[in-house]
Amino acid sequence: MKGVVLAGGLGTRLYPLTKITNKHLLPVFDKPMIYYPIQCLVNAGIRDILIVTGGNSAGDFLQLLGNGADFGLQRLNYAYQQGEGGIADALKLAEHFADGEAICVVLGDNIIESNIKKAVDDFKAQGTGAKILLKEVHDPERFGVATVKNGKVEKIVEKPKQPETNQAVIGIYLYDKHVFEICRTLKPSARGELEITDVNNEYIRRGSMTAEVLKGWWTDAGTFESLYRAATLIRDNGCNRMDI
Ligand code: DAU
Repeated sequence: MKGVVLAGGLGTRLYPLTKITNKHLLPVFDKPMIYYPIQCLVNAGIRDILIVTGGNSAGDFLQLLGNGADFGLQRLNYAYQQGEGGIADALKLAEHFADGEAICVVLGDNIIESNIKKAVDDFKAQGTGAKILLKEVHDPERFGVATVKNGKVEKIVEKPKQPETNQAVIGIYLYDKHVFEICRTLKPSARGELEITDVNNEYIRRGSMTAEVLKGWWTDAGTFESLYRAATLIRDNGCNRMDI
């Protein structure tokens, strides 16, 4: 299994902090944001990792992360996203790197308390298809929201105005090699992006999507409130430490 961290996009919800740097280089308590998704993959036993970034500060990622020595890695791989075409657009750039293997994709602004090793192992046993991780939240309208019946995901709606449930789809996804052919069929959404939710709904349509509920806390860090919350959670609890 290979790992992909998606760290492109403009981070406009954090203006003016992101006017002169990339969102994922901002501090979250004592480390740059990008450290947490990389550590999440490494803790799950994934050591072959691609960082996808973009914008004007892409070179700063090289300077900060180098070959991954801070994570005990011998090398890191990098790709550059032209423009901000969405999460699934950034993911397309991982096709060559994945080279037919399964991948674990982590959004660069997602931080979790737990270790996803069990979900990764479960997905390896599953063999094909995809797996998402769910977490109950009080503000589901900010996320992709899943409707689950009898343990099966029926559908995901991206940022619904009136959510059917409070089960948010967190930004950690496990995919088989078919993810790239699915990405190629996508059309831009109303916000002009290729949506990861459309990828996940296609796996649901094919009957090959599974889901697990994440243990421990989860937060994104893409708004002022969630960035502050992430720093506080890390200061008070640490992260990437307990098993799912
Ligand atoms: O945090 C989980 C949520 O992330 C999911 O529940 C949603 O279904 C999913 O669409 C996503 O929602 P956001 O609107 O919060 O995603 P955002 O645009 O903030 O992008 C999240 C990360 O994806 C960002 O930190 C970097 C990466 N990204 C995003 C875009 C738009 C890219 O690499 N390239 C891009 O063009």
